[in-house]
Amino acid sequence: MNILLTGGLGYIGSHTAVELIAHGHDVIIVDNLCNSKPEVLTRLEKIVGKTITFYEFDLREEALLDDVFQKESIDAVLHFAGLKAVGESVEKPLEYYDNNVGSSVTLLRAMERHGVGKLVFSSSATVYGSAESPYSESSPTGVGITNPYGQTKYVIETMMQDVASSNQQLEFVSLRYFNPVGAHESGLIGEDPSDTPNNLFPYIAQVAVGKLDKVKVFGDDYATPDGTGVRDYIHVVDLARGHVAALEHLASGFQAYNLGSGHGTSVLELIAAFSEAAGHEIPYTITARRPGDLASYYAHTDKAAQQLGWSTEKTIQDACRDSWKWQSSNPNGYIN
Ligand code: NAD
Ligand code: UFG
Repeated sequence: MNILLTGGLGYIGSHTAVELIAHGHDVIIVDNLCNSKPEVLTRLEKIVGKTITFYEFDLREEALLDDVFQKESIDAVLHFAGLKAVGESVEKPLEYYDNNVGSSVTLLRAMERHGVGKLVFSSSATVYGSAESPYSESSPTGVGITNPYGQTKYVIETMMQDVASSNQQLEFVSLRYFNPVGAHESGLIGEDPSDTPNNLFPYIAQVAVGKLDKVKVFGDDYATPDGTGVRDYIHVVDLARGHVAALEHLASGFQAYNLGSGHGTSVLELIAAFSEAAGHEIPYTITARRPGDLASYYAHTDKAAQQLGWSTEKTIQDACRDSWKWQSSNPNGYIN
């Protein structure tokens, strides 16, 4: 299939491009580079050994998007493009609604005009809000979401359901990611935050390589085995393969799937695993809880296993090893 990847030069999109090509698909990438670098394309082409079609523009540019649908014979769309910093979304909510929801509306309209009905969307476990963990796809969504970023994911999922209900030809899937971590085993592509990382894993990686002093552990008084926050970390290559599986099992209507490992790992366990991979202790200090953080959550993974035939294969140790390889060979991330 010819697959359009919006935001395909980003962290998850780039890893998914590699897996799609490995499964015989062709990819066409649209990205405005607001949170990625042109160098990603060079690295991707090196990994896959072929040229990848790339268009640089903002997805909200309807006419440019029309040109892509006209020129390329698109069979399906994987929609990664969006802004993802939770804290920033609280400060700039309109930017988040405009970019995330606005670009999704533009995309759905263009798909309709050009008769493309297959869509896989990058959602997040954040749509479960205050539901009780472990989350299953039938857990309530949209209640207790604490930030505009999470709201945009919920709004887009709702819109996808409404649109899918209006036309039996549409095959829409929302993938609810848990915490993506790790890098491609080549060390050529990985996560490259433009600023000081907000998320734990890239923060640990930058402490490991000496770019940051020490990890700040946000609270050790949660009701968890060691008192620190517990999350379901998923290797980005497993996540990428989840997209290939979703694409190959598309069916009429709207479906949501959790993409997680089904296991929780604490902050301290993650620091210990990364220390092991890096071969030296990673310094950390305990600080206050971060407002809005939940103590613990992880995924129920049965639906993806049963319906997509997909489950994670890689471990936290694999993620730490691959991320260390990426971070230590690219301490400053992509050059341009
Ligand atoms: P990323 O920022 O690395 O990738 C997103 C890409 O989209 C970037 O290359 C950016 O330049 C591009 N982009 C953003 N807005 C655009 C627009 N209007 N037009 C064209 N391109 C645009 O993020 P990621 O970690 O790869 O995440 C991909 C998707 O997965 C996002 O939608 C994100 O919300 C979602 N997600 C990520 C995580 C995570 O922890 N990384 C967790 C859950 C969900
Ligand atoms: N943490 C620290 N120190 C840090 C950063 C995080 O101790 O410097 C802790 C947090 O308190 C939490 C855990 O590490 O217990 C993970 O935090 P992250 O910021 O890495 O990830 P979150 O689970 O908070 O959020 C992530 C994504 C969101 C997404 C959410 C649900 O950042 O976009 O998962 O999928 F919505």
